[in-house]
Amino acid sequence: MKYVLLLCCSAIILQNTFGSVAILPKNDTLRAMLKIKDDECYDDLYNVGRIPVGQKKRIPQICATLTCNSDYDIDVTGCGVMSVEGCRVEDGDLKLPFPDCCFNVICDEK
Ligand SMILES: *[C@@H]1O[C@H](CO)[C@@H](O)[C@H](O)[C@H]1NC(C)=O
Repeated sequence: MKYVLLLCCSAIILQNTFGSVAILPKNDTLRAMLKIKDDECYDDLYNVGRIPVGQKKRIPQICATLTCNSDYDIDVTGCGVMSVEGCRVEDGDLKLPFPDCCFNVICDEK
């Protein structure tokens, strides 16, 4: 689960920034085994399963989405972080859609 590490854990944060944090390369063996169609990607890392080419699906257990590229690689898009003093971060609500599920940043007034 090394990708998940990129999505969390910074004590001081300025604002939410979103971006691609990883690429999951297609797995032809798996595609053949599961008879994945030519217009779909397949994710087994996050158990999201089939994703139509060009579409996104939310990863339920973390605040990130998977996008199926035309070459069947999958783009992982998560909540980014930037650091600044005087701000703290609260966990977002995983029930919300991406990117609303990203953490909330609270900056203390000076
Ligand atoms: C592709 O999937 C197969 C079947 O699950 C697995 O054995 C293999 O290690 C995977 N290959 C890669 C490169 O992840």
